[in-house]
Amino acid sequence: MSSMKVAWSDALCTGNRAIDNQHKYLIDIINDLADAIESGQTAQSMKKIVNLLQYYTEWHFCKEEDCMERLKCPVAARNKQAHAQFIEAFLGFRSELEAGGDSSEIATRMYKTLTSWLVQHIQGIDANLRHVSGEDGAPAAAPAPPPAETPPPAAPPSADEKTEPPLASPPQESSPAEGNAAKKWWQFGR
Ligand SMILES: [Fe+2]
Repeated sequence: MSSMKVAWSDALCTGNRAIDNQHKYLIDIINDLADAIESGQTAQSMKKIVNLLQYYTEWHFCKEEDCMERLKCPVAARNKQAHAQFIEAFLGFRSELEAGGDSSEIATRMYKTLTSWLVQHIQGIDANLRHVSGEDGAPAAAPAPPPAETPPPAAPPSADEKTEPPLASPPQESSPAEGNAAKKWWQFGR
């Protein structure tokens, strides 16, 4: 039973694949903290998760801030400020843990604060990435892929076709201008 856990949903999508993946992993680590609390893990185990959470959060914030700056996202400055506030709150909880308080009680407060902050932050600020192009070539409003039934003319052969012997395909006619040099081996002597 993990009643505390946060579930990923489309409501948390920013439209930027890289950032969404980072948020998913962030939520995974936060949920590990919930597991540790609920299964009565030692203070030492919780500190390990909190360490990982801090390193990953800081790395992710850097990536996301760079991304917003590069894409000239209108909320880039607000995002940076919110991240700084988050880190401050995070370090407060961390100091409490280091000071040797009731780790389960501190971790529970930490978990609740971080999850509600993260969800609101993603939906309120990070979601603005939707209005700018994604950094990994995945624009927010990605153009629909071509329909499957109309493949481009130069599409490579399917896996099945590749297994057929070469002569099963009709020979390609080369234009006269190409001369013999452009002829395929099976076209000589015709
Ligand atoms: Fe953010």
